[in-house]
Amino acid sequence: MTIDLLTEQEIPEVCEIEMECFTHPWSEQSLRESYANPDARFFAAREDGKIIGYISAEIILDEGYIMNLAVRPEFRGRGAGKNLVKYIIKRFKNDLKFFTLEVRESNVGAISLYENLGFEFAGTRKKYYRNPTENALLFTLNFYKGK
Ligand SMILES: CC(C)(COP(=O)(O)OP(=O)(O)OC[C@H]1O[C@@H](n2cnc3c(N)ncnc32)[C@H](O)[C@@H]1OP(=O)(O)O)[C@@H](O)C(=O)NCCC(=O)NCCS
Repeated sequence: MTIDLLTEQEIPEVCEIEMECFTHPWSEQSLRESYANPDARFFAAREDGKIIGYISAEIILDEGYIMNLAVRPEFRGRGAGKNLVKYIIKRFKNDLKFFTLEVRESNVGAISLYENLGFEFAGTRKKYYRNPTENALLFTLNFYKGK
């Protein structure tokens, strides 16, 4: 498995992954708009040239927001999700105060992945998600404390 920048030509593949992974997937148009945002960074995990998962984040000055993380169902449980998050932590931690993200309250797999990597619970956004309606939990990984 390799992890590297996602190219614009690969957006349709990401769209496919979104549909496999989420009840309320990002549309191709939203993905293209997000990709075009100069603050956004997209990375793909690949095996034999095929994208098996991706992560996207927005880097706004010294703040990092993880926008999405998804691994194709048939490639789960083999470390791709963890490696994608570890990859962006390593790549950006010297420039950032923190990475933060929202996750569905029921998504125990993703929550345990984030907690294992040091993310800490930072609050709840009530009824944040649709299809189905659900609270979002906020998790943050701080790179330095104080000041
Ligand atoms: C969450 C997701 C990205 C994990 O990807 P993955 O490649 O299967 O995860 P990994 O194999 O790297 O697992 C890493 C850790 O996550 C946790 N984890 C992953 N899936 C889990 C599950 N179903 N139940 C419990 N823990 C789980 C474990 O703590 C695991 O640690 P380990 O390496 O010590 O076993 C994947 O399940 C997915 O795409 N889900 C649908 C989309 C989604 O929910 N995205 C997150 C949005 S915030």
